[in-house]
Amino acid sequence: MNVSGSLRVPGDKSISHRTLIFGALSQGVSRVSDILPSADVHSTAGVLRSLGVAIPELSKDFVVRGVGRRGLVPPTVDLDCGNSGTTTRLMAGVVAACPPPMQATFVGDSSLSRRPMRRIARPIEAMGGRVELPSHHGLPMVIHGSSLRAVEWTSEVASAQVKSAVLLAALVAGVRAQVTEPARSRDHTERMLTARGASIEVEGNTVTLDGPSPLIAMDTSVPGDPSSAAFFAALGALADSGEIRLEHVCVNETRTGFLDCLRAMGARVSEENRRLDGGEWIADIIIQAGGLRATQVTAAQVPSMVDEIPMLACLATRAEGETVITGAGELRVKESDRIAAVVSNLKALGADAEELPDGMRIRGSDAPLAGRVVTHGDHRLAMAFGILGAAHGNAIEIDDPDCVAVSYPQFWADLSRSVTP
Ligand code: S3P
Repeated sequence: MNVSGSLRVPGDKSISHRTLIFGALSQGVSRVSDILPSADVHSTAGVLRSLGVAIPELSKDFVVRGVGRRGLVPPTVDLDCGNSGTTTRLMAGVVAACPPPMQATFVGDSSLSRRPMRRIARPIEAMGGRVELPSHHGLPMVIHGSSLRAVEWTSEVASAQVKSAVLLAALVAGVRAQVTEPARSRDHTERMLTARGASIEVEGNTVTLDGPSPLIAMDTSVPGDPSSAAFFAALGALADSGEIRLEHVCVNETRTGFLDCLRAMGARVSEENRRLDGGEWIADIIIQAGGLRATQVTAAQVPSMVDEIPMLACLATRAEGETVITGAGELRVKESDRIAAVVSNLKALGADAEELPDGMRIRGSDAPLAGRVVTHGDHRLAMAFGILGAAHGNAIEIDDPDCVAVSYPQFWADLSRSVTP
């Protein structure tokens, strides 16, 4: 397989959600450009509309008219979060801190309804909030807005969603919150709230928000998503010849673990035009075809590549030696159980893979892989196996190719454009 050309991957999903939420909670008008118009971000836009914010149709450029920290109104319908954990958990923090009579029921698709919500319900309850969860601790989740108090919270998991839920609850309530994580998760909330006038301090793995402070409206241009770029970086590394250029990608260091991993596997990855734009580092990334060797991933590396592990596992089947991924138990509670689903699909295709309680072990080979992948509706599985399927000799069919709409609607078109005969 030969690759060529340059690609601008769609806007970052984490920054897109936050741009809408923070714009809605700000005073004034925020201009937004290059937001990711994917199903997950549409879920956040829909939830904010149900809470009384006039979010227009998501297009290349539009404005959000903020209602201020206390301007949301009780919804008259359930808040449909679709497949999006980020929408649910961040908005749970916001809604919990809105004054009565705020009350909202969060619902989602079957995958989201199974995902754990205790991790946000517990800190919200510690702040004096009210959350009702079903016995399986997923959705539907009912939140009653109430007056919240300050909190010092130590999270058992490194999760930007948990951290952001607590920080947003404190921001809306106008109280102080301190969140400590076992490892540093992505820091877009901290960066974006600071840029909008909130008082935030970061020390090691602890973030403190000193409330109360109004949020100031701010224009945002959303940079390319490193998690989407990762698929095409992998494509370049798997190719027999050629190079691929990924333009305007967010290279925030809490998100670049996959690129570091590619380099450790011997891939030729370089960066050009590194620049700071709107508080985030952006660069163009160039990947040249070349051989890969196995690697080891441990707990400390996982947060900065948490969404890229399915792709890494697929790459490992083509690398020389045995790749071992540990400390990645969080993968079991993503859009699917990504440890079980990745390993069972790899085995079904003929790869040598084995599940570990908190990760997986994969032995690379040149033997062609063939068969049908069961994605369980998980967008990142569809894309990871889609890239593996493009590698020389492989014949892989994806059961639900349309599920890429969650984060990267034009993925298949970009893939066919990047692979040249
Ligand atoms: C996200 C955080 C990550 C990530 C998800 C987006 C965010 O989840 O997997 O795709 O925007 O905060 P966790 O924070 O639960 O690890």
